[in-house]
Parts: sequence; structure tokens; C-alpha cells
Amino acid sequence: MGESGTQETRTVVITGGTDGLGKGVALHYLRRGAHVIVVGSTRAKGTAFLSEAEAEETATATATATAKAGVPAGRATFLQADLTSISSAKRLVATIRRTHTQVDKVILCAQRYRLLGPRSVTPEGLEHSFALAYLSRHILSHGLRETLESTPAPVIMNVGTPGVPLGRIHWDDPQLTHHYGGARATLQSFRANDLLGVAFADLHPGTPVRYIAYNPGVVATGMPDHLPQPLRTAARAAFTALATPVQKAVAPMAALLDDPPDAPFTAYRTRRRLPLTGAAFDLSAARRLHHLTEDLVDRFTHADRPPDQPADRPTEPDPAHGTNNGA
Ligand SMILES: NC(=O)c1ccc[n+]([C@@H]2O[C@H](COP(=O)([O-])OP(=O)(O)OC[C@H]3O[C@@H](n4cnc5c(N)ncnc54)[C@H](OP(=O)(O)O)[C@@H]3O)[C@@H](O)[C@H]2O)c1
Repeated sequence: MGESGTQETRTVVITGGTDGLGKGVALHYLRRGAHVIVVGSTRAKGTAFLSEAEAEETATATATATAKAGVPAGRATFLQADLTSISSAKRLVATIRRTHTQVDKVILCAQRYRLLGPRSVTPEGLEHSFALAYLSRHILSHGLRETLESTPAPVIMNVGTPGVPLGRIHWDDPQLTHHYGGARATLQSFRANDLLGVAFADLHPGTPVRYIAYNPGVVATGMPDHLPQPLRTAARAAFTALATPVQKAVAPMAALLDDPPDAPFTAYRTRRRLPLTGAAFDLSAARRLHHLTEDLVDRFTHADRPPDQPADRPTEPDPAHGTNNGA
């Protein structure tokens, strides 16, 4: 598909699109003329992204005028959503579905590691890593499937660390109310995302959506800035020595997004396809986690809903819209 796939890409949703890898992917597709919808929890970062997108448009317009050819710059929208929250993730899905009949690609990058410190619980009572790094991705993947399905080469890319043989699902206590540890919670969320991809393909055998679990390797993002000391200094030093620049890391991601594999579910570490073997990709565990997650979301939805409010009535997130081509 390659270049033609790129040209067909009209709308791209990127969670964590205001920073790091997500932002790199967003700017890439903006330069290719797509409408990019970036999601983050911080309004200031969204506003900064829109300014950068506008500057890109000016630069592209100048280059296009000079070359008398080229791809028009795209359009950027920022949607503010705190993806630690089930209701916020569901509102985000409802908003995107209501405002877009088609979405070509969904890239899931929103992440905030909590490797040290005490167990952190969201206002909805869920363990932070489970909620942000896994549950929001479950809600977005399944919630946006139908919106993706009407496009020529739909893809969900779940960016994390697929297949790494560390961590496990704590079936008896997934919220880690006992024996909490930051690394344990983080690794559980990684493994849950592996199983999310397996379950997605299993549940929707006829879907054209290609689900890609993607490990970018070590990439020079601002991720270490959010770590507590002494981890921050160590991570920054490691990033300086080892990390790939964002722009370089985006290239293999875009190649996969533009020309997805035939298989419904695949896992990659940069350009290398990973075998879907071992406990990380176990089908019965994937089904079990899917049911456990759906039960949790259902329980929350019904507990949360005032008696007079239908479960599926969308409430607007607090969007900041911006266009960088006046479209
Ligand atoms: N960088 C690496 O070396 C590396 C290696 C392997 C895998 N990965 C994976 O790649 C993905 C992107 O990582 P990155 O390094 O690019 O991260 P990053 O630079 O730290 O960016 C994280 C993004 O997530 C957003 N975010 C954080 N909390 C959020 C929340 N509650 N709701 C909505 N959005 C939220 C942030 O925006 P706000 O702060 O405004 O919310 C930001 O846009 C992650 O899934 C990570 O696990 C990265």
C-alpha cells in the first residue's frame, strides 16, 4: 500500500498526541495532509501543539508554493480528556463517533508511569496504571472499531512493550489493592495490552481493522521528566546514551500504519515482527481479561449513571479545536 495508503489517510486519532512519540506521529500525518485529532489531559500542551501545527502549515505552504507541488498541510484538533477516567474515555469515544463518520488510524500513546511511590487511585477508584495504560485503550479500541471499519486500511496501533516477558495479570486482584508495587502495576498494564490485541482480533474475526501492538524501542521523549528521583536522572542518562530521536522513531511506525500487515493482530519491536507465542499472547487469558474488563466497565457505567440518564448519552469532553489550514 505504501504511498497510496498514506494519501488515503484522512483522519488520525492519537492519544498522548501532545508529546513525545504521539506528537511525532501527529506532526507526520499533519504534513501528509491528514486531519489529526490529538488527545491529552493538559490544555496548555494542546494549545502548544496547535501553535506548532500552525507553524508547520505555514512552512509547508511556503515549501509547496516554491515547489509548485506537494501535499497540503492538514488540520489539527485537540481534545482534552483525562484518560485515567472511564467516563472521560467513553465521552471521548462518543465525541469522536458523533463528529467523525470515518477514522483511518488510532494510535494509543497516552501514558504516565508511576514506578515509585504509594498506590495511586483514580477518582473512580481504579489503580492508576490499570486505568490509564490499559483500560482507556480497551475502551478506545472497542469504542472506535466501527468508525474505523469504513475506511480503506484501518489500523489501531497500541504503543507499549509487547511480548516483553516481564509482569503478569494479577487475576485475583487486578487493582492491586494488596501487594501493590509501581513496577508490578506498570508491567501488569503492559501484559494487559498484549492480551487486548489478542482479544480484539478474536472478538472481531471479520473486521478489516488491523491491530498492531508496537514497541518503539528506547526513544528520546520527555518521559523521564515525569519520573521521581533518582529514577529521573538515571533514565535521562540512559536516554541520552541510547535513545532514538522521535522523528527517526516515527518512520517505522508510519510505515506500518500506512501499509499494515495482513494478519488481524501483530506485534512489532520497531521493524521486527515478534512471534505471538507464550503467555503474553495466550488466547484464553485474553478472553478472560476481556470479560473481566467488560464487567468492570459495565459495573462502573451502571453505578455511575443517574437514574434518568441513558447509559450511552454522550457528554462533551472539553475540546479545544484548532485548524491550521483554515479548513
Ligand atoms: N519513550 C520510550 O522510550 C518508550 C519505550 C517503549 C514504549 N513507549 C511507549 O510509547 C508511548 C508514548 O510514550 P512517550 O515516551 O512518547 O510518552 P510521553 O512523551 O511522556 O507522552 C505521554 C503523552 O501521554 C499524555 N497523557 C499522560 N497522562 C494522560 C492522561 N491521564 N490522559 C490523557 N493523556 C495523558 C501526555 O499528555 P498530558 O501530559 O497533557 O496528559 C502526553 O501527550 C507510551 O505508551 C509508552 O509506554 C515509549
